[in-house]
Amino acid sequence: MNILAFESSCDETAVAVVRDGRHVLSDAILSQADMHAIYGGVVPEIASRKHVEAIAALSGKALADAGLARSDIDAVAVTYGPGLIGALLVGVNFAKAAAFALGVPLIPVHHLRGHIAANYLAFPELEPPFLALCISGGNSMLVDVRGYTDMAVLGATRDDAAGECFDKIARVLGLPYPGGKPMQDLARGGDDAKYPLPRAKVAGNDLDMSFSGLKTAAVNLVHNAEQKGEAIDRSGLAASVTAAISEELVPRAMEAAKRCGRKVLVAAGGVAANERIRGDLERSCRENGIRLYLPPLSLCGDNGAMIGSQAYYEYLSGARADSSLNAYATLEL
Ligand code: KG4
Repeated sequence: MNILAFESSCDETAVAVVRDGRHVLSDAILSQADMHAIYGGVVPEIASRKHVEAIAALSGKALADAGLARSDIDAVAVTYGPGLIGALLVGVNFAKAAAFALGVPLIPVHHLRGHIAANYLAFPELEPPFLALCISGGNSMLVDVRGYTDMAVLGATRDDAAGECFDKIARVLGLPYPGGKPMQDLARGGDDAKYPLPRAKVAGNDLDMSFSGLKTAAVNLVHNAEQKGEAIDRSGLAASVTAAISEELVPRAMEAAKRCGRKVLVAAGGVAANERIRGDLERSCRENGIRLYLPPLSLCGDNGAMIGSQAYYEYLSGARADSSLNAYATLEL
């Protein structure tokens, strides 16, 4: 089954063709990051306009790269949330039109389910059940993946996402957007104990996370140093921030795996590209006898192939949308 999949939830326009949920026939992506970098973050209105400009040509490219004709497409899939509402609406409306024109079913896909499914593309043997650590620009979540479409959220951030925390701190350090990768580069060789930064304790569900206190502490540290004319150890701060974020995520992932009895952990989302977090996950999983799947860097960030993968399993479980499909800025997993 060939699925033509659309992703436009943030600042990447992506169209892919995926066969039977596991084989990527094409994966066309156009990132707008350079445009948003001028403003230090994603400007939603610009994102929507850029998606409109790109999506038709990218669809043609995805089909051509796959070596398929329109008549070879069996279904159309699209991310319908969560994300920037205007950006999502571009993908949703284009996908609706494509499904109607091709006379094929339309499959709605949750963005984070797509991030998890990116791992099915890299690891043919991977099947649920497993625990997923979803860490992206907009979400941080621990998910018990009981089946391909049967998931339970065990813990989530109460405020900022891990990626957002990286991006905001990077910004006060004068690093380009998106800040995760530049923070990683700056942290290399830095002293990760240089600055004592807060680790959040969340009342209620101890698998929930919080990154806003850490973000504020790091931002204040930079501003205070600037006001006093003091130099900060930029590399040490980047390393200290990364260590704090990793310590929010990795021990909670181990605890969640223990509680739901999972022996397989899957990482997903843009922040899963971080070398410190990957290293900490590898070590902790080894110590706890957990098999770890880390997606290749090319599949950590937003892409259309992950949507096409998850869509296949959504289709098998009966998910269908019609022309009344809407987009949602927030959406339960
Ligand atoms: O998954 P993604 O592409 O978009 C969303 O679905 O949100 O994640 C983007 C986030 C950004 O916050 C970016 O700074 C972060 O992933 N990121 C990283 C790294 N590469 C990307 N964070 C830390 N280390 C990295 N190497």
